[in-house]
Amino acid sequence: MSEFVKIAFGPLAAPKGGTYVVFVGADLEPAARVAALIGAAAQRLDSAARAVRFRGKSSTAMDIVEAPGLDGVRLLVVGVAPGKDGKPVDFVNLGGYVFGKLGAAKKVAVAFVAPEGEWEPAQAAEFALGLRLRAYRFDHYKTKKDSGDDADDSAPAVTIETDAAAAVRAAAAPRMAVADGVELARTLVNEPPNVLYPESFAERAAALKAHDVEVEILDEKAMDKLGMNALLGVGQGSKRASRLVVMRWRGAHSRKMKPLAFVGKGVCFDSGGISIKPAASMEDMKGDMAGAACVVGLMRTLAARKAKVDAVGVIGLVENMPGGGAIRPSDILTSMSGQTIEIINTDAEGRLVLADALTYAREKFKPRFMIDLATLTGAILVALGQEHAGLFSNDDELAARLSAAGAATGEAVWRMPLGAAYDKLIDSKFADMKNTGGRNAGSITAAQFLKRFVGDTAWAHLDIAGTGMSSPANDINQSWGSGWGVRLLDRLVAEYYEG
Ligand code: BES
Ligand code: MN
Ligand code: ZN
Repeated sequence: MSEFVKIAFGPLAAPKGGTYVVFVGADLEPAARVAALIGAAAQRLDSAARAVRFRGKSSTAMDIVEAPGLDGVRLLVVGVAPGKDGKPVDFVNLGGYVFGKLGAAKKVAVAFVAPEGEWEPAQAAEFALGLRLRAYRFDHYKTKKDSGDDADDSAPAVTIETDAAAAVRAAAAPRMAVADGVELARTLVNEPPNVLYPESFAERAAALKAHDVEVEILDEKAMDKLGMNALLGVGQGSKRASRLVVMRWRGAHSRKMKPLAFVGKGVCFDSGGISIKPAASMEDMKGDMAGAACVVGLMRTLAARKAKVDAVGVIGLVENMPGGGAIRPSDILTSMSGQTIEIINTDAEGRLVLADALTYAREKFKPRFMIDLATLTGAILVALGQEHAGLFSNDDELAARLSAAGAATGEAVWRMPLGAAYDKLIDSKFADMKNTGGRNAGSITAAQFLKRFVGDTAWAHLDIAGTGMSSPANDINQSWGSGWGVRLLDRLVAEYYEG
């Protein structure tokens, strides 16, 4: 199932030669707790806890290499906050925390029992998702293993102990589909741009056919025919040909429901073009396709868990490079919508790609809503850091649902304003609009630009420049590319649009 951790569900047993994980609460004596669970020598655990000042607080753990009374078993005693009614995301985080404490352990059993009583099968499923998210690695370009005697990097086997294995397995299946989607999105973001360019990205998206997703790839000729000159303009300085990929998952029982549309910015490398970026951190711009990666990961998740919904994913794949054929400041492009765009700065390229991708999604599918994801502006990092994605929307209900899904999953969004006064800032002297609005309110003027291409379709734009790449490590993510948005949008779909 996963190449990084093998997860099983079954009955209680401390694994000989392995690691046994048990949970204690801050208000409970760890020794008594553990003794009740597995009959270890209570006295000696108490003195160990005193020695390392372990009091069972959440996000703390006590590692007992040779557990008294448990021959050849390493005991990992983990403090927990989530009680019986803990939120699902608390258990995702707990799974991630526990995996992080395992070290080189290969054989692990988790006594998945709350300090004050049973946890639910659904909570065990969230815990398993957390294990998967933490276990993900991207190291296949490293030809030498990390130093140390134990170079065994085989996947650890973790058994989550339960006497309701069938129920837990059923609850875990859709959560493993989420893990698969997040892993896919992370890998796409992490891949270098000499490996992942528009054509090869499109091929990876086409692999979703194996999960019964319909995939159509538009080449430059097809896009030219449709008049996608904004998207094509961005790609025209690159030796790599541009692509538009359309993915479709049909899972709704009724054909009457209009599909949901997810649109992603897929700039496989953003050098800035003629308005070239400075060298510092330019390598981060391999991640400028995190929006498209999220859309592909989400489609995979929806298909793998057979979501009862019709969804389309549209991703615009280009490489933004300087060159003799590149667009230049002062060029005027005619977008697929017919609206004309004066180029002020060729580094404001994401909105050009999205303009045509949004127009295509709207005209072709007449969707119930469109949500676009894009690493669109450095300004969103200035405003929100890496804690929230910027949310812009013309629809209060959709915005509220996204905010709720963000709070539930921990993939938080923060709504930003739109308005006529901001829109004015992108009026152009020579064309219908210009592609930058000046220094102030950079994320908002970028969103205003997109808004000119959505008509009256319900729409939300997520600026993920801060959350999709270069991510700080935490309990459930150690990867540069976070796969941000897959869990958020899966939750949005599951909560409000299925059935
Ligand atoms: N891809 C960048 C935005 C970005 C910056 C993503 C940092 C991730 C981290 C985008 O294409 C860009 O260059 N935006 C410009 C817009 C400006 C020229 C109006 C920016 O934010 O500076
Ligand atoms: Mn740019
Ligand atoms: Zn960009």
